[in-house]
Amino acid sequence: MKRMPVVLAIAVFLAQPSWAGPGAGATAGSTAGAEQVKPLCAACHGAQGVSSIPAIPSLAGQPKVFIENQLVMIREGLREVPAMTGMLDKLSDADLTSLATWYAGLKLDGPTGSSAQASATPPSNARIAAGATMAKQALCGTCHLPTYLGQSQVPRLAGQREDYMQQTMVLMRDGKAVGRDSIMSSTLRGMSDEQLRDLAHYFSNLGSF
Ligand code: HEC
Ligand code: HEC
Repeated sequence: MKRMPVVLAIAVFLAQPSWAGPGAGATAGSTAGAEQVKPLCAACHGAQGVSSIPAIPSLAGQPKVFIENQLVMIREGLREVPAMTGMLDKLSDADLTSLATWYAGLKLDGPTGSSAQASATPPSNARIAAGATMAKQALCGTCHLPTYLGQSQVPRLAGQREDYMQQTMVLMRDGKAVGRDSIMSSTLRGMSDEQLRDLAHYFSNLGSF
């Protein structure tokens, strides 16, 4: 029983988000929380949703439903993103929808970056061609669309950061992408690291549409 106050103190401490100003609250329907966290998100994902940091995905131009789903998964701890721990705790569903709508409406080829910047390595025509052929053979476009712009809960791949996609596909193929749709691990099963590198290289070099 002696430990109780300590536990309570920690619970109260955790209930205070460090970013929240006075009067902040996740009341149903309010999107004030979304506006408050946007500068935080910008520090990693870019002010206009175009990431210039290795292994951090761009969010600009992603389908709204995809972003919304991922934010719920991350908030509930079902998809583990250590860099974002606790950041979404106080956000309502309406806040998450508001963030998703905002990012979905931004252009990936925005003022802070271009899709060329998404490529971690200098464009290689041979690797782009190899990636394009593999993507066709593996029917990636049936879900991600032939333009690879994504739809509904399926993410956009065109212009996404090469390093992020490569690392994510390795985890997915190896069944280590906790909280991600298992459809992707079966799709990528049997592919070599080299093939995943070519796929990531191809998608990241697809221009804006
Ligand atoms: C400290 C850096 C950091 C901050 C701040 C941050 N994120 Fe992230 N975010 C990441 C990383 C890293 C990933 C990718 C994790 C992985 O590899 O699966 C990610 C993934 C995501 C994804 C999934 C994207 C995809 O393509 O799978 C969404 C959506 C997202 N973040 C939204 C946000 C929002 C909204 C905020 C602000 C509330 C935010 N993030 C703040 C680092 C950050
Ligand atoms: C049957 C539908 C389907 C097919 C086919 C498919 N995908 Fe996906 N893919 C998805 C879905 C759904 C997600 C989102 C996963 C989640 O919710 O975590 C996804 C996620 C991804 C991601 C992570 C992107 C991000 O922003 O986090 C990459 C990369 C990817 N797919 C690449 C591919 C490649 C390459 C192929 C072809 C070899 C492919 N996908 C085929 C449905 C599909």
